Amino acid sequence: MVNRKIGILIGSARKQAFSGQVARAVAAQFPEQLTPVFMELEHLPMYNQDYDDEGTTPESWTAFRETLKGCDGFLFVTPEHNRSLPALLKNAIDIASRPYGQNCWSAKPAAVISASPGKLAGIVVGYHLKQVLSLLNAYVLPQPEVALGDVHTLLKPEGGWANPDTEAFVATFVRSFTRWVERFSK
Ligand SMILES: Cc1cc2nc3c(=O)[nH]c(=O)nc-3n(C[C@H](O)[C@H](O)[C@H](O)COP(=O)(O)O)c2cc1C
Repeated sequence: MVNRKIGILIGSARKQAFSGQVARAVAAQFPEQLTPVFMELEHLPMYNQDYDDEGTTPESWTAFRETLKGCDGFLFVTPEHNRSLPALLKNAIDIASRPYGQNCWSAKPAAVISASPGKLAGIVVGYHLKQVLSLLNAYVLPQPEVALGDVHTLLKPEGGWANPDTEAFVATFVRSFTRWVERFSK
């Protein structure tokens, strides 16, 4: 059984972020062959092409890009900001899509989970994110769609899911994602 590294990108740096709690709960359900690699996004300077063009690429960008290149797939877990991507996440995606021709997302399997305390579950950010990842040639899992509304009711304070239905649904997602990663891994 080959081990696959899954880069986990969380669209919120908030200490108590629901998206962070969701990401940890999902990763806890990974099978043995998937190893989660939690990515730090908040220290990445805002994308500016001059840094790459003028040879002043921030070390944090280089390290981030190298870590992503070592991953076999990606899981995005994000809140919705004004019906779109949080700037934190968009910045990370932009950084790793450049320099031109060195797009870290290309030809790698990926999946998207949105989460919101609201009823609409961040469904729009899920679609915006899939649109961006599609342009970047990431292979995004189509189904099952995971958009978690009322997310504050789904999580236990100590971590993990508060109800068996959510846990079972996430288990279905994890099985599909695991097969998806295998399908596109060398
Ligand atoms: C700038 C901003 C914009 C937001 N826009 C949306 C939105 O479009 N849809 C939504 O469901 N929630 C929206 N929210 C509420 C977030 O879903 C909520 O704050 C959530 O807890 C943030 O995710 P986190 O817990 O992972 O940090 C917004 C929050 C902020 C700060």
